[in-house]
Parts: sequence; C-alpha cells; structure tokens
Amino acid sequence: MMNRRPLIAGNWKMNGLSTGGLALATGIAAKRKAAPDVPCDLLICPPFTLISDVAKAVAGSGIAVGGQDCHAKVSGAHTGDIAAEMLKDVGCSHVIVGHSERRTDHGETDAIVKAKAGAALAAGLAAVICIGETLAQREAGETFAVNRAQLAGSLPDGATAANVVIAYEPVWAIGTGRVATPDQAQEVHAVIRAALQERLGAAEAGAMRILYGGSMKPDNARELLGLPDVDGGLIGGASLKVEDFWAIASASA
Ligand code: 13P
Repeated sequence: MMNRRPLIAGNWKMNGLSTGGLALATGIAAKRKAAPDVPCDLLICPPFTLISDVAKAVAGSGIAVGGQDCHAKVSGAHTGDIAAEMLKDVGCSHVIVGHSERRTDHGETDAIVKAKAGAALAAGLAAVICIGETLAQREAGETFAVNRAQLAGSLPDGATAANVVIAYEPVWAIGTGRVATPDQAQEVHAVIRAALQERLGAAEAGAMRILYGGSMKPDNARELLGLPDVDGGLIGGASLKVEDFWAIASASA
C-alpha cells in the first residue's frame, strides 16, 4: 500500500459569522501548533465571507484553507459567483467542487463539476472533487456504477495526486448521523481507486487521496480512517467544534 498522508478537511458549509468563525479557526490553529507531529494534513473550508480573515488567522500554522465552490470561468458577468483565482488571491490552496449540496441545490452536473475542477487546477488550486450515491441508488444496487460514472464525468484532464483529492460522500450519510459502515466505505473507496488506476495509472491512483465524508465524528473516525483506502475525512458538522475536529485529526494517527 502506498503511504498516503491523511487529509482531515472541515467543510463549514453555510455556517459562521466573523467572531465565531475566527475563534474556530484560531482554536484549530492552536491545536495544530501544540501538536505539530500529528501525522495528517489539515484543511478548513469556511464560507466565502470568512476566507480572507481565516487565512490570515491560520497563517504559519500549516493549516490549509479552501473554498467550498468556484465558478468554471476565469472572470466576467457572473453575478454572485467566485472564480478560482479569487480564492487563490485571498489565501486558498484548495477548493471543494461538486459537493452533493451543490449538485442538488444548484443543479450541478458532472460536466459542470469537471469544468470547475479544471478551473481550479488552472488557477493553481487543488480540487477536492465530491461524489456519492443517494439512498435510492444504493438500495437499487447502483452504488458502484453511480460513483464510477460521477468520477469519470467529474475528473478533469491534468488531474494528478498532487492537485486532486476525491471525497466519497454517500448522500444518505451527510448530516444524518447515519455513517457508512467500515465495509461500506472501504468497498466504495476500493472501487474508486480501481477506476482512478484505469484512468491515471497505478502511480497516481496509488498516491491520490480519497476522503470519506458523511457523519464522521470523533467516535467513528478512528475505524474509518484506519481503512486501507480511506485517506482522510471531509467533515461537516463535527468541523464546527474545535474539540471534535481535532479529535478526528488525532484519530488519523
Ligand atoms: P456531515 O459531517 O455534517 O455529515 O457533512 C459531511 C459533508 O457533507 C462534508 O462535506
């Protein structure tokens, strides 16, 4: 097995005002500084409004900052949208694309997600590309096919282990408290890695990180993060509390 350093990523979603958001970022940075040897990379993805301040607050801590979405175009008449280069400009190194909430709330297709991921790479950001089946798809026995199809349709040209992270987030596990079992997570992660190997070759597929997301909490993190093809977590609710997020990071050791 390749030696992949875990990535523990917090997706704050549409949560956080300036005071609380900065306290959260500062709290996580303090934990990281006090325990630099915990062998994982940390990423926090605040809402757009807080990115600049959060990036300044965590500067020097080794914690990376990411956006939760970007537009596929470089600039122009797209009211309310944010370009990848703008994220880079205010201190981001990563951006999440294709989160299931974007796919549902904003009708994002695989083609759109692929274009956004491509824009991220072009701007020098790493893309965290989210895929995952719904409960109906799982119950219909379509889990592997759905994830393979989303991966194939969302992965941009030029993807490498250095500039892309995959996040497997079963939709039925997001925000529900209903976490995937270790067997469920590992088998889908293995399918994703096999698909990556077909597309990118063994070296890139072996080095690319595949995160699990969906009700990851301090009490289930160790088991999930210990699975052979789970290389970290994309954490929603539990990333909003310093102690919980740090407990998950510590569980990756
Ligand atoms: P929860 O951890 O709240 O289930 O959210 C997962 C998620 O969607 C992260 O992107």
